[in-house]
Amino acid sequence: MLNLLAISGSLRAASTNSALVAALAANAPADCRVTIYDGLGRLPIFNPDDEGERTPRDASDLIDAVTRADGVIVSCPEYAHGVPGGMKNALDWLVSRDAAVGKPAMLVHASPRSLYARAALAEIMRTMSFALYEETALEVALLGKKPPEIGAILAEPANQQAMREAVKAFAGFIRRQT
Ligand SMILES: Cc1cc2nc3c(=O)[nH]c(=O)nc-3n(C[C@H](O)[C@H](O)[C@H](O)COP(=O)(O)O)c2cc1C
Repeated sequence: MLNLLAISGSLRAASTNSALVAALAANAPADCRVTIYDGLGRLPIFNPDDEGERTPRDASDLIDAVTRADGVIVSCPEYAHGVPGGMKNALDWLVSRDAAVGKPAMLVHASPRSLYARAALAEIMRTMSFALYEETALEVALLGKKPPEIGAILAEPANQQAMREAVKAFAGFIRRQT
């Protein structure tokens, strides 16, 4: 059984990215357990003075969750052609230890746009030494959709199969790493 940690880069209650990671968890193949990280909004702003023994509890919880996971899945919106502050802040906390080093990671996309944020996230995560899985990118076009429609799109059999296949492909990548 592989344990995967899924992170949405949006704090919005009706977030399309959070809906996508929830659907990935619900549709994971039988040999993968996808857990959703929900602490992004509680993380204090990263300060290198607070690394090591002074690391705040919420930040060390994130670091521990990433350390324990066999792989990380990120779905993140784009704000002003960049990575939203909350997501970047979480990644900054992970730089402070070696949780990211060699950790398999996959980006998935809830918007067909967000090309700057995709490129920036990939660059940041490669720089942090995540082992980024880049062969197949899952994209479910949820941009601008409201919850009932989001649910309907994510319930479509073709999308459920695409989600399962994406996690399966990522699991294969993780197994080839170890
Ligand atoms: C402040 C702000 C800035 C945005 N800037 C961009 C942008 O530069 N490019 C883009 O493709 N979408 C942009 N968007 C749209 C969001 O990326 C889009 O609504 C996304 O689906 C939101 O994700 P969520 O549903 O998970 O919250 C922006 C949205 C907000 C609120």
